[in-house]
Amino acid sequence: MTNEHFLVTGAMGCIGAWVVRNLIQEGVPTTVLDLAGDAHRMRLIMSADEIAQVRFVTGDIADLPTVERVLAESGATRIIHLAALQVPFCKADPSLGARVNVVGTVNVFEAAKRQGLRHMVYASSVAVYGSSEDYPEGLPSHDAPLLPRTHYGVYKQANEGTARIYWQDDGISSICLRPYTVYGPGRDQGLTSSPTKAMLAAAVGQPFHIPFGGRGDFQFVDDVAKAFIQSARTSFAGAVVLNLRGSVLHMREIIAAIEEAEPAMRGRLSCDDTTLPFPEVLDITPVAAVLGQVPQTTLADGVATTIAIFKPALADGRLTWAK
Ligand SMILES: NC(=O)c1ccc[n+]([C@@H]2O[C@H](COP(=O)([O-])OP(=O)(O)OC[C@H]3O[C@@H](n4cnc5c(N)ncnc54)[C@H](O)[C@@H]3O)[C@@H](O)[C@H]2O)c1
Repeated sequence: MTNEHFLVTGAMGCIGAWVVRNLIQEGVPTTVLDLAGDAHRMRLIMSADEIAQVRFVTGDIADLPTVERVLAESGATRIIHLAALQVPFCKADPSLGARVNVVGTVNVFEAAKRQGLRHMVYASSVAVYGSSEDYPEGLPSHDAPLLPRTHYGVYKQANEGTARIYWQDDGISSICLRPYTVYGPGRDQGLTSSPTKAMLAAAVGQPFHIPFGGRGDFQFVDDVAKAFIQSARTSFAGAVVLNLRGSVLHMREIIAAIEEAEPAMRGRLSCDDTTLPFPEVLDITPVAAVLGQVPQTTLADGVATTIAIFKPALADGRLTWAK
């Protein structure tokens, strides 16, 4: 695609690293804006030559002049906005969480408006919903009532409103994706990172307990990354919010898949019965209409790929094991 240039915020994080990997492997110029300066997640999944092609800018999305300057200097034609603080960090410091997650998102929209970009893609989350019991009819749609149980979920809900107003007032269209539990290489922080930590435990042959359980939706990180890229390349008139679907399973089935990939782990992984405060499964009907087909890796392939990436990274020191 000619003249395409991506700005990806928060791309030192898990999903962003995979977005950047896909873009660089396609030969697309890519600028990263992140507060963090360490590309350790990219080193898990990209070669040194690939990382050398990325333009890195260290900066805070909560600072509008920074976001506007970086966007202008990058010459980006497409934006994927992923920078955020996850559930535990928002709980520990709600004020900072609001600054980064809410003000930061307003800033990315505002910078896009000032620089004349007409389309935005950003991450919301399943955390905008309440618990299963809030939806007795089951399978909440993308526009079902939002009843977030965390500060993080409230901030994500605010961002969806911000996107709606930028469409209404300024004609900036947006596609928002709401991932559920993302797993795979690079998923090392956040409320739902422990299934991936169990895969890392399997790669080192250590026992591991996942501190939650129940049924939920497990999405392989590369599929989610590709869905974000697809969204950035999709024309859409409006501000749409889309739930995503991976593998809807009980945590015991995740453990079984890890044991299948690493038979020596049989009986060495466990999980709590505590469920997450989200519906088990969400309606994804609008995704096909807006994005067409989105990639969907099977759980078995996602787990096997994750462990296969972890093993050499553990051997050469790019990853270390700590419970
Ligand atoms: N991983 C999941 O399961 C999941 C599920 C639902 C939604 N999401 C959303 O997807 C997005 C990406 O998630 P992830 O798992 O890659 O997160 P992550 O925590 O791995 O990465 C977030 C990145 O944002 C950066 N960041 C934080 N504050 C910043 C600031 N002030 N300025 C610039 N950068 C800043 C961090 O340094 C980090 O690199 C986030 O918006 C997240 O809320 C993730």
